[in-house]
Amino acid sequence: MTNWRADFGPFDGQVWLNCAHQGPLPKPAVNVIKEATALKQAPHRLSDQAFWDVPDRLKRTLGTLVNASPDEIVLGNSFSYGLHLLIRGLNWNVGDEVLLVEGDFPATILPWRLLEEQGVRLQFIDQDAAIELPQQISDAITAQTRVFCTTWVDSFTGRRLDINGIGGVCNENDVIFVLNGSQGVGARPIDVTNTPIDVLASCGYK
Ligand SMILES: Cc1ncc(COP(=O)(O)O)c(C=O)c1O
Repeated sequence: MTNWRADFGPFDGQVWLNCAHQGPLPKPAVNVIKEATALKQAPHRLSDQAFWDVPDRLKRTLGTLVNASPDEIVLGNSFSYGLHLLIRGLNWNVGDEVLLVEGDFPATILPWRLLEEQGVRLQFIDQDAAIELPQQISDAITAQTRVFCTTWVDSFTGRRLDINGIGGVCNENDVIFVLNGSQGVGARPIDVTNTPIDVLASCGYK
């Protein structure tokens, strides 16, 4: 059996639980980062093949993790980058609506704010514990709703949303379902091919 524990640390005799804040880099990752830095120091040793091979392999690996084909994966430097890329890639009309959840993680909300100057309206669901979120989304969707965006796993409470239920409601209403997977991808299984998610964006350092 693989000894995963040996790949992490040292933790100076302590136990690190706050991976929702910072995931500890495993030693194999630390080693390849050292090699990559050494190559940047001496770029004449960096082969063209290595230059292309690393992102290609990363796309294949991430594709395996979330059950997507490599050409569906876009590499960026953060969750916010991915969300901005999406927002800038869609065509917006005055009066379009984006549906969000009040109190959601700031990075899930703030990039959408830029659209307000283009006449796009942000609508917020005020969560009511007595009503399931898919039902609340269904009630809040209008003919102008283009996108629903929320966070899969809450970074403070660990609460995980029912992505099948939410995605189902979005699909039925022709609304693009954008999911922030930052606290979940890599920790929990997720299958973007067999779940009704249109866009999954995630940071990679948790
Ligand atoms: C839910 C969630 N989304 C996103 C992020 C990070 O976003 P970004 O990669 O844009 O810095 C975090 C970091 O704590 C997070 O907890």
